[in-house]
Amino acid sequence: MGGVWWDENSRLKRKRWERHQKLPDMLNTYQPHGGLRGTCSYSYFPCMPLKCNAEKATYRWILEPNSSLLHKYQLIELIEGAYLEGNKSLSNWDVFTHIPGHIKDDSDGDIADDHYHLYMLLQCGFKQEDIELMHQLGVNAYRFSISWSRILPRGRFGKVNSVGITFYNRLIDALLLKGIQPFVTLNHYDVPQDLEDQYGAWLNPQIQKDFGHYADVCFKAFGKKVKYWSTLNEPNVVVILGFITGEYPPQHCSKPYGDCLSGDSNIEPYIAAHNIILAHATAVEIYKKKYQVKQGGSIGIAISARWYEPLRDIPADCLAVQRALAFDIAWFLDPVIFGEYPPEMRQVLSLRLPTFSSEDRRKLQHKLDFIGINHYTSKYVKDCIFSPCEGGKTESTAFVMSTGERNGIPIGTPTSMPDNYVFPDGMEKIIMYIMQRYNNIPMFITENGYAQGSTSNDPTTDMLNDTSRVEYLHGYLTSLTRAVRQGADVRGYFIWSLLDNFEWLYGYTQRFGLYHVNFETQERTPRLSAKWFKEFLEGPEVIERMNRDLECLRSIY
Ligand code: BGC
Repeated sequence: MGGVWWDENSRLKRKRWERHQKLPDMLNTYQPHGGLRGTCSYSYFPCMPLKCNAEKATYRWILEPNSSLLHKYQLIELIEGAYLEGNKSLSNWDVFTHIPGHIKDDSDGDIADDHYHLYMLLQCGFKQEDIELMHQLGVNAYRFSISWSRILPRGRFGKVNSVGITFYNRLIDALLLKGIQPFVTLNHYDVPQDLEDQYGAWLNPQIQKDFGHYADVCFKAFGKKVKYWSTLNEPNVVVILGFITGEYPPQHCSKPYGDCLSGDSNIEPYIAAHNIILAHATAVEIYKKKYQVKQGGSIGIAISARWYEPLRDIPADCLAVQRALAFDIAWFLDPVIFGEYPPEMRQVLSLRLPTFSSEDRRKLQHKLDFIGINHYTSKYVKDCIFSPCEGGKTESTAFVMSTGERNGIPIGTPTSMPDNYVFPDGMEKIIMYIMQRYNNIPMFITENGYAQGSTSNDPTTDMLNDTSRVEYLHGYLTSLTRAVRQGADVRGYFIWSLLDNFEWLYGYTQRFGLYHVNFETQERTPRLSAKWFKEFLEGPEVIERMNRDLECLRSIY
């Protein structure tokens, strides 16, 4: 194993590898609570230190290979392509990406990874079917999203598109044949453009009905085979970037939050969020009442969950952390779990935040089966209520200013994605925050991954020997393990992502895949991280090997 990963022929590397095999196993001295960090009094709720157990166990990986915990994620819209094939209509993202200047490299997702055609076809000799790639990796689940405009090109105003249903049914069947569980997201940012044009999509309560109808069609068509449903991916990102800063469609915002042609960053985000929350509740109610007993699946929601650290060690910044987390995460999770907006938001926004009617509350009472956590990075936050702040930070940004640096020193190693720093402890902290706030409802890490910046399709050695990604995954998985050891009910972990893909505003300039993709030829090439992940899934001694490998790789590259 191991030594043959990067270069079977190089004797020099082989020798170094063998030398490193003999490195002392640093993990034997690792103590999960404190230990290497020297203290055990950090807190998940900033400034309210929690005592951890002074457990002195040596590190042992808690995720057994082939356990239900290890999966892979890929958003279908970002890889699917075929944007107008099979009777699909335009989504709001199709329209947005076709406007020059919107996407960094002026690209679009029209073809992307052409997964629509390549998910199971072996073509042109070298192209491997994508499901076979997953199978070879040894994953036991695949998280993907359905494109609303492929199923209902005109929302509830038109017919169900049988071609779209057939496509996803085939995909699901092909996954199941390989023993891979489909973990399906109903909505990942994209809505049929028709709904945007007809009534303003998320800004209009009509969307609740539309989303319910769409969910119903999907549960009916795929629910016998799909046991994990997530209603929405990152509604907080949809609202913050779509209606506060205006960077994502529908590009609504007002100053000082952004510079848009229309919108009001002080009002619209709360309307859109309210409709999203109730659309989610509508879908959950339909699933619970009509399908769950018969189909035996579970349903949840996935939230973008950044961790925040106080910039200064003062109570005001600790409160700012609480506000930042509430305005980011609890904004959506409190209503769908407790039926109310978070008190931290109500205090700041007062009546600007809508209220739930008794009918809304009735809908919201259907409990979530799990919370999906998309976690990549952490930032510092500074209070802007009691402290002077640059940049007009006001109500809609919780009166906090966020930054990646303290006194010029970044919170973690910067990555090619702006604002994405490597800060593994954030994983443990965000899980513990969510566990404590929501009474340990089962959780899945629905996204976690590392980007490499590149504008070239060429799979250079640098691009393929992604030791930084391996290090990132190692750090975050170790941090996740610490949370699980403290009782967090985390049931699964998905890496973002299987393949390089169309990365929203960044087009094809940011690559997250375990597999490198040449977007001209559609060739997929495994990176070191794919080989590492495969071995990780195969053996229980995985962490020990992983550390030795990393040391070795660092000395070589
Ligand atoms: C989103 C993905 C995105 C990833 C990397 C996540 O927040 O859900 O769609 O590609 O971040 O930026």
